[in-house]
Amino acid sequence: MEIQHPANLRHQKLRKWVEKMAALCKPDRVYWCDGSQKEYDDLCALMVKNGTFIKLNEEKRPNSYLAFSHPSDVARVEDRTFICSVSKSDAGPTNNWIDPHEMHATLDRLFDGAMRGRTMYVIPFSMGPLGSFLSQIGVQITDSPYVVVNMRIMTRMGSAVLDVLGEDGNFVPCMHTVGAPLAPGEQDVPWPCNPTVKYIVHFPEERSIWSYGSGYGGNALLGKKCLALRIASVIARDEGWLAEHMLILGVENPRGEKVYVAGAFPSACGKTNFAMLIPPPAFQERGWKVTTVGDDIAWIKLGKDGRLYAINPESGYFGVAPGTSMKTNPNAMIACSHDTIFTNVALLPDGDVWWEGMTKEPPPEAIDWQRKHWTPDSGRPAAHPNARFTAPAVNNPALDPDWENPNGVPISAFIFGGRRATTMPLVVQATSWVNGVYMAATMGSEMTAAAFGKVGTVRRDPFAMLPFAGYHMADYINHWLDFGRNIPYPPRIFSVNWFRTDEHGNFIWPGFSENMRVLKWIVDRVHGHGASVESPLGWMPRYEEIDWTGLDFSREQFNAIMSVDREAWKQEILSHEELFIRLYDRLPKEMIFVKELLLSALWRSPERWEVEFRLK
Ligand code: GTP
Ligand code: SPV
Ligand code: MN
Repeated sequence: MEIQHPANLRHQKLRKWVEKMAALCKPDRVYWCDGSQKEYDDLCALMVKNGTFIKLNEEKRPNSYLAFSHPSDVARVEDRTFICSVSKSDAGPTNNWIDPHEMHATLDRLFDGAMRGRTMYVIPFSMGPLGSFLSQIGVQITDSPYVVVNMRIMTRMGSAVLDVLGEDGNFVPCMHTVGAPLAPGEQDVPWPCNPTVKYIVHFPEERSIWSYGSGYGGNALLGKKCLALRIASVIARDEGWLAEHMLILGVENPRGEKVYVAGAFPSACGKTNFAMLIPPPAFQERGWKVTTVGDDIAWIKLGKDGRLYAINPESGYFGVAPGTSMKTNPNAMIACSHDTIFTNVALLPDGDVWWEGMTKEPPPEAIDWQRKHWTPDSGRPAAHPNARFTAPAVNNPALDPDWENPNGVPISAFIFGGRRATTMPLVVQATSWVNGVYMAATMGSEMTAAAFGKVGTVRRDPFAMLPFAGYHMADYINHWLDFGRNIPYPPRIFSVNWFRTDEHGNFIWPGFSENMRVLKWIVDRVHGHGASVESPLGWMPRYEEIDWTGLDFSREQFNAIMSVDREAWKQEILSHEELFIRLYDRLPKEMIFVKELLLSALWRSPERWEVEFRLK
């Protein structure tokens, strides 16, 4: 097949790879994406014509579209995600592994002719600002125009990337097909995918990615989880930096002092909300400001001045829709008010969108994500719980002025937060880097719909990276320990939990913008002027040390979310132990010693702690 390569393609290896992949996948045509607005508009129009996209009401949601996915293709598929390192033990016990030769043979068979009847799109993209020393280039090949338009929002994509790549720049090859070839004359479906065969595969030594069968999110937008986390974490280990599942935000206090913090929360546990936080009125009046650098991924390197610097490799938000409202996250609502792609939310009769939690009253009727007529008493959600919006970062009113700074922003604190109904207090500061690494390594979280597992059960999710680490999780913990030893000004480490519930299952903590009160304490601690008290778990604020202006939250309620229950902690530590046994072949010994110290702090603690922390 004759391929029309772009005039500025000077990279012979890339040209050869594209030709080889075209020969393998046998598409009807090959198209190089230039990243222009016209190309985006043309592809959207094409998808409206073939039924993938519904154009939303131009008055209510300008330049926005809605897609409904196939019911088999609604989230990442962790059980179909593979780290195919040469040695099985390098992938570690928390990743699926298949011998790379065997996997390549499987993929060659699956990709052979997989794009028949379709267009093969070639997408050069940069994760991170174009040309920044912190950035990485990828080239994704895909047969999904839905992926192309999403990649244009989520990454810096198009022709300029080829100029940065030059003749011999490094790029990560990212192969993707929805795995649904069309026979001659066969009618396409609105959401082509392979309902039974899915493979999301990473070859860490080759630094290449192959994804088959899914068109959804992290399975298909390969710059995101596959490149920016799984492959990047391997590169970061080898080169001595960090690739993390973290939001990055800036906080300015009334004195005009600005700090940046990075926070790791598991999927659908509040990163987007926290990254776009609007301080409560009492804080705004005094001059507190929060700005967003990123909401999902952070790449972090040690700067020459001895501080850590982070960039957000993405340029858009692939955010959870359900639960997002003008009350919970106004900045996200504004960000997705125009130029946005929605997936699996409900369609209203007026051509706008709706999802659970968007408004207090549900609409009288809608078309649900399965294209069925829906009413509030249908007994099923209108939007899929993992429905998402893809919105450009520039739409966010709280975007930080330095969000694209090629040198990154300096990080003063790391925050780790799982979704826990019990056990974990609202906030604790680790007493040292090693203690902080322990907190992060043993983080637990209740499963959400973003992970395609049993929703609600607690699982250990070290660093919120369980599904995203491209190598052995114990090596990953060790990398953090090593990295910390060489930082002259290490960020402080905190653990938070917005999700503790009362005996009726209601959240005790109001959350969302009220999280500012916890953030203020964290920032005060970073500046060295926040008071705290030593507890069995680390440094904790007393009731008096949280700013309650404008919020009615009693000492009793505070006690309820700060108390440390020994019986619960016994179970908790046994569950840490279970993780450690799983990782035992490579687990850094520090984890065992910190665990012993934690045990003794809990069971040999001073009597005043029993009163102060409601130790039972
Ligand atoms: P990924 O994009 O999957 O990595 O997730 P994320 O961490 O960015 O998730 P997001 O911020 O979109 O979290 C979505 C869910 O968390 C929604 O159901 C929100 O309602 C809920 N959530 C976020 N912040 C809070 C909070 O402070 N309190 C409570 N109770 N729920 C919250
Ligand atoms: C997550 O699951 O953590 C996400 C969404 O950010 S996806 O890109 O689909 O993985
Ligand atoms: Mn994520």
